Amino acid sequence: MSSHSPRVTSEHIDDILGGRRLRRNRRADWARRLVQETSLSINDLIWPIFLVDGHGVRQPVASMPGVERLSVDEAVREAEYAASLGIPALALFPYTDPALRDEAGTEALNAENLICRACRAIKQAGLDIGLITDVALDPYTSHGHDGLMAGERILNDETVDQLCRQALVQVEAGADVIAPSDMMDGRIGAIRRALDEAGHRDTQIMAYSAKYASAFYGPFRDAVGTSKTLVGDKRTYQMDPANTDEALREVELDLAEGADMVMVKPGMPYLDIIRRVKDTFSVPTYAYQVSGEYAMIVAAAQNGWIDGERAMLESLLAFRRAGADGVLTYFAPKVAEILRRAR
Ligand code: PBG
Repeated sequence: MSSHSPRVTSEHIDDILGGRRLRRNRRADWARRLVQETSLSINDLIWPIFLVDGHGVRQPVASMPGVERLSVDEAVREAEYAASLGIPALALFPYTDPALRDEAGTEALNAENLICRACRAIKQAGLDIGLITDVALDPYTSHGHDGLMAGERILNDETVDQLCRQALVQVEAGADVIAPSDMMDGRIGAIRRALDEAGHRDTQIMAYSAKYASAFYGPFRDAVGTSKTLVGDKRTYQMDPANTDEALREVELDLAEGADMVMVKPGMPYLDIIRRVKDTFSVPTYAYQVSGEYAMIVAAAQNGWIDGERAMLESLLAFRRAGADGVLTYFAPKVAEILRRAR
């Protein structure tokens, strides 16, 4: 017998736990799989892609390693690839030639703009994949704001009028889902009415309902070319990161105005908002794992500081655990490959 008998015995632990040992369910892979509550599936993924003019063009985005701006022909190829993986939908964002940008974001209404050409080309390929288009003026304005400006002010109602026309142009080019990301008041209802009046009653609206004025959009603004031109910040229309009740009011209004799906953005720093929205409204709820979140994971992985693949999967599972029905993520094709192999 050892000179010092253990202070802690199995009987002690049994006394403490009364037989409830939680590690039993973790002891083997089969058991862990059996008790897993949430899961991530390819059906939960929406892939945001960036478009650029030209043919055969793939331009790396420096602040988003692994992400490229694609010309329309390349985007069609990626759409085919995404459809083959089973990714349900793409979200399209344009890098507009600076020469085409003006104060009023006129190019947003051009039926031949990059987004419209991409929608038509991808639709022509006859793929089983949904096309989500962003409604907001920022990729088209010289000042980089999502709305029309009068001096320093972002005009709400005048902007909404233009957003309705932008949405119609996109739907006529083949967009399946209109996703207003501008945060003007009343835009969901106005766009719904405009779509219905034009006979597009089946076009869905995915509202960027709780969109925060966030530092995590930096790399996206590089990708669409607005980071250098943006005048001031977006705090008069995007939400204050300090607020949660206000997110519920935004979602409530968007649903009342006709939104089919709602979104919380950014993602990981706002998991509490996703949970509150899902618990309160029980509607299809999406998270946007934004460019800065992507960049953080990739940069840390490239430095060897974290296991990038595991961090990516863990971050996406966290959205599901918080109640999200799906996630917009730049990791979509990578994750889909992994999930497909894991079968
Ligand atoms: C703008 C828009 C932004 C994003 C999507 N749509 C940026 C912004 O509000 O400045 C960000 C997406 C990302 O960071 O990945 N309408």
